Amino acid sequence: MEENETLDASLGAKKAQEEALNDIENANDEASLEESYNRHLSKKGKISLLMNEMGRLAKEQRAAFGKAVNEAKQKAIAAYEEKKASFAKKKLAERLEKEKIDVTLPAKAKKKGRINPYYKIIDEITDIFLDMGYEVVEGRDCETDLYNFELLNVPKDHPSRDMQDTFYLEAPDLLLRTQTSAAQSHTMKEKEVKTPIRMISPGKTYRRDDDDMTHSHQFAQIEGLVVDHDISLANLKATLELFAKKMFGEKREIRLRSSYFPFTEPSVEVDVSCMNCGGKGCAMCKGTGWIEILGAGMVNPKVLEMCGYDPKEWSGFAFGLGVERVAMLRYGIDGIRRMYQNDVRFLKDFE
Ligand code: DAH
Repeated sequence: MEENETLDASLGAKKAQEEALNDIENANDEASLEESYNRHLSKKGKISLLMNEMGRLAKEQRAAFGKAVNEAKQKAIAAYEEKKASFAKKKLAERLEKEKIDVTLPAKAKKKGRINPYYKIIDEITDIFLDMGYEVVEGRDCETDLYNFELLNVPKDHPSRDMQDTFYLEAPDLLLRTQTSAAQSHTMKEKEVKTPIRMISPGKTYRRDDDDMTHSHQFAQIEGLVVDHDISLANLKATLELFAKKMFGEKREIRLRSSYFPFTEPSVEVDVSCMNCGGKGCAMCKGTGWIEILGAGMVNPKVLEMCGYDPKEWSGFAFGLGVERVAMLRYGIDGIRRMYQNDVRFLKDFE
């Protein structure tokens, strides 16, 4: 082996290295970079094939040649890796740019739920009476004739049953309650030891009524009952006046008009001075300045007696109000069924 053959071989390695580096340097995308790799560095690549020339060299020169080839290979691989990393970096940067999120853009408004006025008014009324020391009694929708009528002094053939056309589940005893007053008879009758009572009981009631703007066959009432020693009509009036002021405003006054309910004696209907015109007279109060809000009275001694409270010792007052009616007055709602339909436009308006 001649001296210049080694030189040639080493020069060849240098040349192959330069070529490879050039090629890699000029690759302008991943595909052409991979092509350069194959051309120079794969098993059949130009640099690898150089090794085949080893056999033509003198033994003592093989080391230097091998070193030169290896160096060429290392440099080319390093350049390839570097270029590959720079492509990956560029690709990531492009992706980040493309998928950029503008955090300053206005967000999509989230729809917030709100409480239906029907439940809101029940909560408000309940709170007013809880503040006065009343407890809340849970009634039941399905009642017996005994609690819904008999114990409230409405015997079988009593004409007042016509006032409340009943849905019977199983005639003649099982029915959908027509009034929350049934919670009165339950509370009094079921007290084993007769102690004073101060309760309200909200709940649904049912009547065979034709639905219109102000009537529904299903509606809610809140019943109130106070039984103690020496309860008078003055206590009833003071209680309902406080309620009316808290519900409809400090300026409201109430008046009692004589009425009839079988379970109260005397019975009254309670009007509140019009919350719209303040009592001067407007369309809402039909020019009278007053709006009826509930029925009430002194618990009929017969009812006390039937429910186990001795009327010589005990007296009481009771009242019942229509939840939807109060909600309509309080919030200016024009149709009773709007409260049952859960139309989001209504709920939104209402807010
Ligand atoms: N239960 C009656 C009704 O549904 C309302 C009522 C009137 C309840 C007078 C009472 C009351 O507790 O004392 O029409």
